[in-house]
Amino acid sequence: MFPNVRFSTARLAFRQVTPADRDDLLSLEASPEVMLYLNGGRPVPEEGLTDSDFLTPRGTEAEVFAAHEIATGRFVGWFGVFDDGIQHGLHTAELGYRLARRAWGQGFATEGAKGLIAAAFGPWGFDCLRAQTMTVNLGSRRVLEKAGFHFVETVFPNFPDPVPGQEHGEVIYEIRRGMPATTDMQPPGRSAPLSQCGVGLLAD
Ligand SMILES: CC(C)(COP(=O)(O)OP(=O)(O)OC[C@H]1O[C@@H](n2cnc3c(N)ncnc32)[C@H](O)[C@@H]1OP(=O)(O)O)[C@@H](O)C(=O)NCCC(=O)NCCS
Repeated sequence: MFPNVRFSTARLAFRQVTPADRDDLLSLEASPEVMLYLNGGRPVPEEGLTDSDFLTPRGTEAEVFAAHEIATGRFVGWFGVFDDGIQHGLHTAELGYRLARRAWGQGFATEGAKGLIAAAFGPWGFDCLRAQTMTVNLGSRRVLEKAGFHFVETVFPNFPDPVPGQEHGEVIYEIRRGMPATTDMQPPGRSAPLSQCGVGLLAD
């Protein structure tokens, strides 16, 4: 990812995180509601931060963007596009996001995800974005489906410290360059499983 990347959507301004964002980033991890589907809702003490990769970012990651509401300047959360390299012939990345509790329910996650998709398939040159969340994280799944992601499969990783709900597994979604967007959320059991990136063809 190039330095000094900035872009915006209708309501959100995005720029790469910096160490000066530390308090905003830590405030997300201090919220049990924000962390519910990440570590079971435990506020994260600062001394434990470096032990868990999924608790990043720390403010030095070029692939992570702080989102601020343009109208107010308030910190909304972060969005990340993590490069997974070439997979099945497609340049693939994983999309992630974490929003402040006060920002929920206003369409910001969906708007931000769509902005990241446009940048990823445009100037950043990715072919495929993937996303993973807990099966029971219905809000996040809804965001992915509203942004145009399609359900791929449910997996059951062997986490050393599973949190409540993990017995239902994790769902994998993907979107590829040129894939038509959808706004229809299928009930989990009826979602049409698609292939992994680059394997087979998508149905129209
Ligand atoms: C998940 C999260 C990103 C959603 O952010 P948001 O800005 O509120 O999302 P949006 O407003 O764009 O859309 C949320 C959608 O999910 C729906 N939703 C939210 N909670 C839901 C639930 N428990 N069950 C079903 N749908 C739910 C909303 O109704 C909305 O859909 P709608 O527009 O059709 O009504 C935010 O809650 C968050 O950051 N959570 C903590 C971190 C996290 O879980 N990240 C993902 C981990 S992979």
